[in-house]
Amino acid sequence: MEVIHSIADLRSRIKDYRRKNDQSVGFVPTMGYLHEGHASLLRKARAQSGLVVLSIFVNPLQFGPGEDFERYPRNTERDLQLAEAAGVDLVFMPSVSEMYPSPTRTTVSVTGLTSRLCGASRPGHFDGVATVVSKLFHIVQPDQAFFGLKDAQQVAVIEQMVQDLNLGIEIVPCPILREADGLAMSSRNVYLSEEERKEALVLSQSLQKAKAFVESHTAFTPQELESLVSQHIATSSLAIIDYVEVLAYPTLEPFKNSHHTHSIIIALAVKFGKTRLIDNLILQVGK
Ligand code: PAJ
Repeated sequence: MEVIHSIADLRSRIKDYRRKNDQSVGFVPTMGYLHEGHASLLRKARAQSGLVVLSIFVNPLQFGPGEDFERYPRNTERDLQLAEAAGVDLVFMPSVSEMYPSPTRTTVSVTGLTSRLCGASRPGHFDGVATVVSKLFHIVQPDQAFFGLKDAQQVAVIEQMVQDLNLGIEIVPCPILREADGLAMSSRNVYLSEEERKEALVLSQSLQKAKAFVESHTAFTPQELESLVSQHIATSSLAIIDYVEVLAYPTLEPFKNSHHTHSIIIALAVKFGKTRLIDNLILQVGK
């Protein structure tokens, strides 16, 4: 495994690989502080691609004012161990000045899909994500890129961007990895106090309740599911709901009742103290 800091070095290393091999290049973009969720993407890339490229870059562009850019957790040594164990070939770890040598005047903005859910609560967030991911895609020029459904809206945004801009990269969505008790793995889980960590279980529990409801009802409205989920989350005195929304997936459009769509997402963002957690469940409905 090789660790590379400069864009020029990474480009030449990948060009070299392409000259000598006809196997595919797989890419996993991350912000580091890696956990098993990231490792699952890396293992999938290892299984599907000839060369596995991991990027670790905490992207300032996707953090709003007052968000956690400065205190975002970092642990390079541990990240590199996990990457090595997952079979990564190249780790790209650029500095902020390498990625943004001067203030960027070009922004990639995916409209519509970004107006709801995290796009509504974090204005500018998805512009920051789409911009950095398109920069990384241009640098790495992968055949496949692997993204977790933990960030299901991000997957929808990136898929739309790839389609609209004819990037010719296969986006591979990967399932959410959870702790044994159900909490979705996240780099931000380290922020939680012991009590918050316990209470955060209401998130995955509320999604399981919604799943049971969907499975036992032939028809339902999004509002019914939203209130069921919100009510369960409200059983935790520490939980402050940012949003609980049920939409069609991957269009992220509202629908009237379950007869009007095939695939739905139950998406939520909830704060415990200063920590904002997201989780979701995608379900097929109807036949
Ligand atoms: P980050 O939060 O580090 O996540 C990197 C990738 O890991 C994303 O595709 C995310 O969905 C996936 N991931 C995180 N937790 C997961 C879990 N529990 N199960 C499965 N996959 C999980 O997402 C970002 O970074 C950034 O926005 C980025 C795309 C790198 C752009 O800066």
